[in-house]
Amino acid sequence: MIEIDGLTKSYGRRIVVDGITLAIPRGGLTGIIGPNGAGKSTLLGLASRLLAADRGTVTVDGLDVARASGDLLARRLSVLKQENRVAARLTVRDLVAFGRYPHSRGRLSPGDRAHVEKALDFLDLQSISGSFLDELSGGQRQRAYVAMVLSQDTDYMLFDEPLNSLDIRHAVSMMHLLRNASRSFGKAVVVVLHDINIAANFADRIIGMKDGRVVFHGDTADVMTGAHLSSIYDIPIRVHRLEGQYVTTYALPGEPEGGAGGEPVLVADD
Ligand SMILES: Nc1ncnc2c1ncn2[C@@H]1O[C@H](COP(=O)(O)OP(=O)(O)OP(=O)(O)O)[C@@H](O)[C@H]1O
Ligand SMILES: [Mg+2]
Repeated sequence: MIEIDGLTKSYGRRIVVDGITLAIPRGGLTGIIGPNGAGKSTLLGLASRLLAADRGTVTVDGLDVARASGDLLARRLSVLKQENRVAARLTVRDLVAFGRYPHSRGRLSPGDRAHVEKALDFLDLQSISGSFLDELSGGQRQRAYVAMVLSQDTDYMLFDEPLNSLDIRHAVSMMHLLRNASRSFGKAVVVVLHDINIAANFADRIIGMKDGRVVFHGDTADVMTGAHLSSIYDIPIRVHRLEGQYVTTYALPGEPEGGAGGEPVLVADD
């Protein structure tokens, strides 16, 4: 369980995380959604100690994130930041192996190597594992960073917009992978997402943020409503079900609030 209590962070006079209290259990995928500037990345940064809080605490299975030793924390919780850049010229395999550092201290055991190969397999990276990061496309590089976090193999994994630059096949396959990791291996996977359809279709729970606060939080089926989404994004959004999936629509310029009306229909199916 990640337990967040009264967490607050300001920059100057601006409060960007405003007294958040929240519990995120293990087992299942938690999606965090909300508009630009809502405080999603700051919340993840505070939860993983990349940032220091002004007030409040975060514990992970009882371990106080602010006071834990770096080693212990790195074996329990891993994080993918929104922006990732390494200065060194590394291959994909080197980067993924770097994820084992908290376990291996730089000397990879056969077990560490198995984790690296598994992560390369899962993210469809074997064919480019010898390529340097600066030779990759944006989506390939993004998958390499996610593989690095997966190879760390912690019980708690936080991902800030892991789908950035991914095509639809790789986005869907990554969400399957993260959901399976959370359900089959009892991990807590927390994912910041901008695609609300993907969030609704893959997350077991959704946290909706706006202006540094949690506006709603709960099981996806309970909180995935047009009223909730409209309240955080400040545009009329409607939620439909189509072939068992959530589909959201929004008003286009010139249309009445809540879209043009009617249920979604298939445009073509050949
Ligand atoms: N280092 C900083 N100094 C000053 N203000 C900051 C800093 N980092 C973030 N902020 C501000 O904090 C607020 C929350 O930023 P944050 O990055 O957490 O938003 P976000 O929800 O992740 O947005 P996005 O969807 O654009 O990634 C924003 O208003 C941002 O301008
Ligand atoms: Mg962000």
